Amino acid sequence: MLPEAAIPSGYAPGPGLLRDRVILITGAGGGVGSAAALAAARLGASVVLLGRNVKKLEKIYDAIEAAGAPKPAIYPMNLAGATWNEMSELYASIEREFGRLDGLVHAAAHFTVFSPLSDIVPRDWMESLQVNLTAAYTLTRLALPLLTRSADAGVVFLTDPSGRDNKAYRGALGVTKYALEGMVRSWALELEQLPHLRLNAYDPGPLRSFLRLKGYPGEDAQKLPLPESAVPGLLYLLGPDSRGLSGMRFSSASLRE
Ligand SMILES: NC(=O)c1ccc[n+]([C@@H]2O[C@H](COP(=O)([O-])OP(=O)(O)OC[C@H]3O[C@@H](n4cnc5c(N)ncnc54)[C@H](OP(=O)(O)O)[C@@H]3O)[C@@H](O)[C@H]2O)c1
Repeated sequence: MLPEAAIPSGYAPGPGLLRDRVILITGAGGGVGSAAALAAARLGASVVLLGRNVKKLEKIYDAIEAAGAPKPAIYPMNLAGATWNEMSELYASIEREFGRLDGLVHAAAHFTVFSPLSDIVPRDWMESLQVNLTAAYTLTRLALPLLTRSADAGVVFLTDPSGRDNKAYRGALGVTKYALEGMVRSWALELEQLPHLRLNAYDPGPLRSFLRLKGYPGEDAQKLPLPESAVPGLLYLLGPDSRGLSGMRFSSASLRE
């Protein structure tokens, strides 16, 4: 189990927190991914927007340009089918274009519906494992050569309560979040000798997004916080204010206390 840690209460990123950094964000067209991308760009980062829906990526690209932030890059990729070589080519392209990588946010998640494990459609199981776990592993592993060259780098894995304590009927999503936190735990321990590189899990709490709507269709979404509420925690974990903290599970509770 990952040790739990708190985002400093009322954390507010300083101006230029991520200046000159290059940050890759998966699921950048989604609720959390797009909020993270715009916020990181506004704080000076060049963001690489990875997702499978180009129209959604273009929308966030335009918002970043309109904000006068550093020019982002769009990298379309369907993580359900992407190969090791295609992911390697992504980093070759980042290195050619930007020459560096200082952060990675794993916000992409495959999810269709909560169901008993015995009833999961085989394809749904495989895509959940592929997108939520294997792609997160592979993208992190292939990023290590660039991340270890950065003077200060953060990798953030979005998680949810299942990551800490999986329960009945949380389906493939629950299994993958539980495994994801286990992966963060062992990987952070193995990389302890690299104090400038941190790997952490972040649970932002329930947020108004498509993913949430799919899981809780009867819920009044208007009562949920917007994905932007995850931004301070993500920026804290991406930037130098979390230096030295690795292999931990942060949750949004600390932000709301
Ligand atoms: N929302 C919550 O209440 C909540 C709570 C705790 C943790 N989280 C976690 O936060 C992360 C972001 O979720 P969200 O709420 O922002 O959901 P979201 O708006 O549905 O975003 C998920 C993103 O993942 C992308 N994705 C799914 N399958 C993909 C694939 N095969 N290849 C590439 N991209 C793919 C989606 O792309 P498309 O747009 O093309 O579908 C979407 O952009 C997830 O890891 C989620 O588990 C969310």
